[in-house]
Amino acid sequence: MTVVIAVVNLKGGSAKTTTAAFLAQAFHDAGLSVLVVDADPQGSLLRWADGAEWPMPTIALPARTLHMQLRGLAGEHDVVIVDTPPLDSQAGIVSSALRAADLVVVPVAPTPMEVERLSAVRDAIDDVAALRPDGCPPSAVAVLSRTVARAASTAVWRAALVDDGWRVLGAEVRRLESIAQAAGDPIQQTGPYAAVASEVLDITLTIEGASAA
Ligand SMILES: Nc1ncnc2c1ncn2[C@@H]1O[C@H](COP(=O)(O)OP(=O)(O)OP(=O)(O)O)[C@@H](O)[C@H]1O
Ligand SMILES: [Mg+2]
Repeated sequence: MTVVIAVVNLKGGSAKTTTAAFLAQAFHDAGLSVLVVDADPQGSLLRWADGAEWPMPTIALPARTLHMQLRGLAGEHDVVIVDTPPLDSQAGIVSSALRAADLVVVPVAPTPMEVERLSAVRDAIDDVAALRPDGCPPSAVAVLSRTVARAASTAVWRAALVDDGWRVLGAEVRRLESIAQAAGDPIQQTGPYAAVASEVLDITLTIEGASAA
């Protein structure tokens, strides 16, 4: 069974593409067969894939019909990772990705502006429930990204997210120059994303188990 993971956030520049790329590489490094889908018309992930000549097959599909096409395209792959455009500019594409997703990964910086705007992401996730075969919203996890070493605010925002009902991964992604400069090059080291991928994998196994039961 293929697991479809959509990387989603409301805002532009919230580390969606970075998260999709590093997660894809980390899954590949873990021995999984990964298909990468760039659903953002900006095409940044596809450019990264082409420039880096990375080993994961990567296709562009910036369409509102993703939910009808993804399962067919998934073939024998273990995981499909979908990078999405900002929800506030391309709601139709993001909604389609949410309809297809088994798990939604939401990268969020521990700052007031990013955390406050997650309620719109929650609404978008809940809104697709009625459009999905099971009538339920997809599972979702927030990943604290671009965190600053030793900043006390990170734990405060983590607690705020949990209070708001978000499941937040234990693994965090620091703001790192190596990640900021990574686009376009092969990803040699997945760094903090290895732990993120491992947690995400555990969650997807639970989802698979639940749907098989
Ligand atoms: N952990 C990190 N450390 C340092 N820089 C980061 C980190 N994660 C992302 N960035 C940088 O933040 C910027 C935005 O990241 P990215 O392009 O992945 O966001 P996005 O949500 O895909 O943006 P868009 O909505 O425009 O597609 C990029 O310059 C990226 O290199
Ligand atoms: Mg992007």
